[in-house]
Amino acid sequence: MPEKQQIRAIKGVRDILPPESARWQRVDATAQEVFATFGFAEIRVPIFEETELFARSVGTDTDIVGKEMYTFRDRDEASVSLRPEATASVCRAYIEHGMHTLPGDVKLYYMGPMFRRERPQKGRYRQFYQIGAEVLGQSDAPGIDAELIEMLTVFFAKVGLEGTRLDLNSIGCKECRPKYVELLRVELTKVKEKLGADSQRRIETNPLRVLDSKIPEEQPIIETLPRISDHLCEACKVHFAEVRRQLDLRGIAYELNWRLVRGLDYYMRTTFEITAPGLGSQNAVCGGGRYDGLVELLGGPPTKGIGFAIGEDRLMLSLEAAGKLKPEPAVDVYIVWMGAATQAPAIKLARQLREAGIKVELPPEEFKFKKALGLADKLRARYAILIGENEIAAGKFTLKRLADATQTSLTEAELLNELRNSIKPGHAERS
Ligand code: HAM
Repeated sequence: MPEKQQIRAIKGVRDILPPESARWQRVDATAQEVFATFGFAEIRVPIFEETELFARSVGTDTDIVGKEMYTFRDRDEASVSLRPEATASVCRAYIEHGMHTLPGDVKLYYMGPMFRRERPQKGRYRQFYQIGAEVLGQSDAPGIDAELIEMLTVFFAKVGLEGTRLDLNSIGCKECRPKYVELLRVELTKVKEKLGADSQRRIETNPLRVLDSKIPEEQPIIETLPRISDHLCEACKVHFAEVRRQLDLRGIAYELNWRLVRGLDYYMRTTFEITAPGLGSQNAVCGGGRYDGLVELLGGPPTKGIGFAIGEDRLMLSLEAAGKLKPEPAVDVYIVWMGAATQAPAIKLARQLREAGIKVELPPEEFKFKKALGLADKLRARYAILIGENEIAAGKFTLKRLADATQTSLTEAELLNELRNSIKPGHAERS
């Protein structure tokens, strides 16, 4: 018989295993907690949508839609795509469910996998995870922009991400941006011969993207180009100045970066990106901005919008590089039982401890004391509880702290009390 060939995960995607998955859960939970305090509620949108949704919102000339989407024909011949991002879906859902009739701003967050067929490298995957938030409604008050960024800083502080940098820009609106883009095109055409092939092509397709270039030889040329900040219309200028004042009010530091244009077409006015240490070239952990008019473009009523998405894979990499990911024991208490009469009390005890939120490992069959204790140690349990015939006779349990092997004999009530006090579920570490 031919040997069965092993099937491996496809290029650019990966598994997230325990104990790493527990850290992801903690980061997710922190986002949920923090975002809720800012009045955000979760939206769950589909993982695939009509291709047209992304084409219209992200833009057909972008890398994302132009070359990175996983697109296929469904049986009924509709072209569908795995979502490369979720802002488009949130706007589609906002329209589909008439959410514009809801009172105040609609504040939504989401978390989950996104799909882009990029060249895989550290911090860049074909299935990656985002935690994102969007604010949709009638107001484009700069206080919304600043509070959204404030929420990000609170979240990053809570998960322990340090050394971040916030880059901020305004890329104007449909009044002033086209004029600036035209000016840029004219100026770029003058220096076309000095630019690489990609930038030369972008002079035609999307001159703003030339500002994104990382090619060293192009940097001095780009530095001489006209800057959007000098070409904003009055309304955009006022809006941007107020966004900055609102950030100052909140004590949030930022760097003005006129070259921050972002790779999606729906943006206008405020754009921002947050970079973090320990990531190499893929160091953007979060990107976002304002997209007034996108809902309209998708067939909805005139609506203002702003949002961000955090790259969770990168966030975890940065936390790991900073040594912020503490191992957490998977087992608080390992119950060792020996003798037929001891299994029933062991089961009862396990149930009581689990009800108190304590992580309990109960051997499914009888093990010798030595084997069971050895396993408890390998699993890095904090405690072992020993239940033998002697313990049953005395009406007491033996509690053993595995770090220093100290043992105490306790009644059931004392034991429950002791463990409830010493193990704080979710925060416990082996002492
Ligand atoms: P984006 O800048 O394309 O924006 O992605 C946001 C973040 O997702 C990036 O900063 C990065 O951390 C992460 N990311 C993107 N591609 C990959 C990848 N291939 N592998 C790992 N991480 C990746 C958006 O997606 C917008 N929807 C953000 C937004 C929401 N703007 C307004 N609302």
